[in-house]
Amino acid sequence: MFEGRVALVTGGTRGIGAAITQCLVESGASVAAGYSRGKERADEFVQQFGDKGSNVSIHQGRVDDVNDCNRVVKEVMDRFGRVDFLVNNAGITVDKTVRKMSVDDWRQVLDVNLSGAFQMTKAVLEHMIERGSGRIVNISSVIGETGNVGQANYAASKAGLFGFTKSLALEMAQRGITVNCVAPGFIGTEMVAAIPEAALAKVVEKIPQRRLGKPEEVARVVRFLLEDDSSYITGAVYSINGGLDM
Ligand SMILES: NC(=O)c1ccc[n+]([C@@H]2O[C@H](COP(=O)([O-])OP(=O)(O)OC[C@H]3O[C@@H](n4cnc5c(N)ncnc54)[C@H](OP(=O)(O)O)[C@@H]3O)[C@@H](O)[C@H]2O)c1
Repeated sequence: MFEGRVALVTGGTRGIGAAITQCLVESGASVAAGYSRGKERADEFVQQFGDKGSNVSIHQGRVDDVNDCNRVVKEVMDRFGRVDFLVNNAGITVDKTVRKMSVDDWRQVLDVNLSGAFQMTKAVLEHMIERGSGRIVNISSVIGETGNVGQANYAASKAGLFGFTKSLALEMAQRGITVNCVAPGFIGTEMVAAIPEAALAKVVEKIPQRRLGKPEEVARVVRFLLEDDSSYITGAVYSINGGLDM
């Protein structure tokens, strides 16, 4: 399906990002997967691809550092010669109520989750414009739609991605570039494993399907948005949340 295409997936070596990398490689794409700290895990992750390993590269870089973003894109261009798809997936949480949240807690989350997506997009956008084609998918969250106690910084960053997605979709609408968002609910990754067990049980009770989502369930929607046949979908938000918010 994606033979000859190149995807750059930030945070692409674990959690939802790893599932996206896997899904796109299985669909024939070459994938450059970014990571920030987990070099050992990133190395292990690549090894699992066996003979498809040459279609996967890993790139250390912080999305909240503009120089890292530009360097990573240069590395990907040097390795694969093009970037067809950008998936802005890297994200963090620093959960505290607003009363306890420091300015630094606020900034850290906004810098990675929102400014990171902006900076990575800037780093690839001119290349996509020159080629007259490209797909950008931003990984937001149901929390950007509903808000959540202890997640004002995270909710603001994820709601910000909706506005960023729609504005960029408008700017790119006549340039062959689509820009969309997916908004997962609670997905079984390390990010969710950090939620205390009792609190997580209460969350699951509120999900109409009564279970966490799987990273692959998010990955398959991302893949759908990257397909040639999805060319008329832009500025959209796809919810993947087991009915938690509708
Ligand atoms: N899990 C959920 O329930 C859920 C729900 C809705 C939305 N999301 C969103 O989905 C995305 C992936 O979440 P996840 O659950 O897979 O999280 P995760 O398992 O914690 O993985 C986060 C990924 O982001 C990378 N990352 C963190 N800070 C970075 C930085 N400064 N620069 C570059 N990369 C950085 C990490 O790289 P390292 O491994 O190198 O640290 C890691 O690959 C996030 O944007 C998250 O907000 C998750």
